[in-house]
Amino acid sequence: MFAITGATGQLGRLTITSMIERQPQSRVVALARDPARAANLAASGVEVRAFDYDAPDALADALAGIDRLLLISSDDVARRTDQHRAVIKAATTVGVGFIAYTSVLHADTNPLSVAPSHRATEAMLRDSGIPHAILRNGWYSENYLIGADAAIAQGTLLGSTGTGRISGAARADYAEAAAAVLAAGAAASGVYELAGDEAFTLSDVAAALAEVSGRPVVYCDLSEANYAQALEQGGVPAAFAATLAGFSAGAAGGILADDSRALSRLIGRPTMPLREVVRRALASVAA
Ligand SMILES: NC(=O)c1ccc[n+]([C@@H]2O[C@H](COP(=O)([O-])OP(=O)(O)OC[C@H]3O[C@@H](n4cnc5c(N)ncnc54)[C@H](OP(=O)(O)O)[C@@H]3O)[C@@H](O)[C@H]2O)c1
Repeated sequence: MFAITGATGQLGRLTITSMIERQPQSRVVALARDPARAANLAASGVEVRAFDYDAPDALADALAGIDRLLLISSDDVARRTDQHRAVIKAATTVGVGFIAYTSVLHADTNPLSVAPSHRATEAMLRDSGIPHAILRNGWYSENYLIGADAAIAQGTLLGSTGTGRISGAARADYAEAAAAVLAAGAAASGVYELAGDEAFTLSDVAAALAEVSGRPVVYCDLSEANYAQALEQGGVPAAFAATLAGFSAGAAGGILADDSRALSRLIGRPTMPLREVVRRALASVAA
């Protein structure tokens, strides 16, 4: 029996869909912080269990009977090391046979603020003795669609990545990879640097927005401080603006680029090109 945490999140939902497509006969359990938000999963026949990383005493019972677990990293970066520790402890208690964990690309050398908690979780998994796979996911291409409407309206995409390359991939590609690894189980143990086949710069993102929207969009590179300020002026809360600007500047050195093509090998097809991700997103907004 397979289980997926963060089942009501974006990656979780896509992974469950991919898992069911891949292995229609298998039992997939959706682990949701708030099961009420998983009503549509339950309606489609997926077993839903309550699973809140912040309720450590309830985690082992929720994992009863689970052979393979996908631990989707919490979005609470400040607290997730402890949250993940609780999940791994519960998995050890009930004898889960395999864990796949969604980490970050090049976690061991990644300077971004999200990386230390991923490194800590990877270390906990190594120490647990449970067979495991580390899915070091690169950036979602969809990250660059946040604020795309403003960029198209103003004709300017802002950032502080310079000419840094980013091997982004669609969330659905990472989800398919997670499902493939979960389906393979302990035989797929290892560390995977997962990234899109195509590396793009933010000038390429601006060009894709321009091509798909039919409106001129150019990339304007700012210092990290000026980009944070611009985000704040656009209504992003100060702390989050600083985090986003830190990501953007941190990517300038190429840490989010990777030419290994491990992701396309895992999913058995090329990753979705940036232009297609942009086309689908703008089409869904227009619909
Ligand atoms: N590679 C990238 O570009 C990128 C970008 C953003 C995030 N990430 C990381 O990748 C993860 C998955 O991405 P995503 O797009 O699916 O993010 P998402 O849609 O925000 O999903 C995060 C999931 O974590 C769950 N969660 C948070 N706190 C929890 C808790 N205390 N107990 C149980 N579940 C909890 C959320 O539950 P609810 O559904 O109840 O909110 C949600 O299902 C994120 O959590 C983050 O660590 C990666």
